[in-house]
Amino acid sequence: MPAPAAPKGMRDIIGDAFYKYQGFFEKAAEIASYYGFTPIETPILERKEIFEKTIGGGTDIVEKEMYTLRTKGGDILALRPEGTAAIMRAYVEHGMNALPQPVMLYYYGPFFRHERPQRGRFREFFQFGIESLGTKQSIADALTIRVSQIILEECGIKNLCVLINSIGDKDSRAGYVKDLTAYYRKRIDDLGPEDRERLKTNPLRILDSKDPKTKEINKGAPESIQYLNEACKEHFREVLEYLEEMGVPYRIENSLVRGLDYYTRTVFEIISDTPSSSSPRDASISPEKKEGDAPDAAPAEQATAQADPGAEPLALAGGGRYDNLAKIIGSRRDIPAVGASLGVDRIVSLPEYSAPPPRMLKSPKVYFIQIGTGAKLKSLNVIETLRKARIPVLQALNKNKLSAQLGIAEKLNIPYVLIFGQKEAIEGTVIVRDMSNHSQDTMPLTKLAEYLKGRK
Ligand code: HAM
Repeated sequence: MPAPAAPKGMRDIIGDAFYKYQGFFEKAAEIASYYGFTPIETPILERKEIFEKTIGGGTDIVEKEMYTLRTKGGDILALRPEGTAAIMRAYVEHGMNALPQPVMLYYYGPFFRHERPQRGRFREFFQFGIESLGTKQSIADALTIRVSQIILEECGIKNLCVLINSIGDKDSRAGYVKDLTAYYRKRIDDLGPEDRERLKTNPLRILDSKDPKTKEINKGAPESIQYLNEACKEHFREVLEYLEEMGVPYRIENSLVRGLDYYTRTVFEIISDTPSSSSPRDASISPEKKEGDAPDAAPAEQATAQADPGAEPLALAGGGRYDNLAKIIGSRRDIPAVGASLGVDRIVSLPEYSAPPPRMLKSPKVYFIQIGTGAKLKSLNVIETLRKARIPVLQALNKNKLSAQLGIAEKLNIPYVLIFGQKEAIEGTVIVRDMSNHSQDTMPLTKLAEYLKGRK
């Protein structure tokens, strides 16, 4: 047996790290609720075609990154690589079109992509997402961007910038893809093998290429906004107007098409431009190792790897409009929709991340010390009395020496210590020691909660 290790690109999230994730989720959910989003949880597994058809055949996610499995009953399922397609599946399945529109949903949880683990890129990662389904209004696009930005701001993330583009609808995209293909065909000799393949399957993907030569070629490529029809142009203009009105800094990024095929019209990503040596940066400029370099069972690589201050900042959130997705998964009519997902692992690992700790985490008001077997037996009853009265308590039931336990309470700056020895256990009392002046009172257990509540 090799040494025990989590699967490559996946991690245990323990203690303070867990509280960061939990604190982020509470903050994000609270903000989303104020803006009218309600929670949804979809299964971790979906039928594979839900993602295959919507994310698109020529995309990395579908071609290389999905974890799939065949069930004993013969169904082919996939671990969800993203949330949007599943949310639309749920909307259609539950006939949510009968509800007042738009239906606004938020979700949080783990997602899975078999990518090469590197800085800010895991195989199991967490997203917080918001989706507004059943609306074509440009204000919904603006609200999605604004809420994502507010969540990031409230977590202390500075220098946010929205990179935005419009890739148009089916009609306007046809002309664009035709010209883009012709542009690359003329330069085919300078494209690497992967980009040549993309030219056959999905030329838009070449705009995402990490190949430095292709990046150069991309600088002169046709721009999607030049191909927008009147309706798409108007929509994009309105979205930008809303952003300006709300003071959201943005930059039009002509090469932004995003790694999923289901988008129409607005696409965007949010980055933080803060120059910081330890913030997650795109490691894509480092030479890519081929898949299979290391076995999956190898110890998890440190995905928050070394600092690379010169690299492009990684996207903290990404999203866009997906007006055609519903029909792709079998809805009889189009359901216009827009949404975004925030990459929680990247956000909580930023040095400036400062969302409040989770609500359940209260600083202890009392430290409970028990001495002797008789007291130990009754200790849990005392702790339960305190829990019921919502008095946060810290205890060390495995420690028996008074001096050691008092030392811990002192070190942790806990205002009161409860001492529960043999005598107190028999008498049904407890000694309350005020750590600020070391004065002590003996209290009947029945009055303990009331007594502590009356004190600061
Ligand atoms: P996405 O751009 O693939 O979009 O992912 C959204 C965010 O998730 C990224 O900006 C990034 O922060 C984080 N992320 C993605 N992959 C990884 C990874 N391997 N490790 C760590 N973080 C990662 C979507 O997933 C769409 N569903 C967004 C959307 C919602 N579009 C419309 N509605």
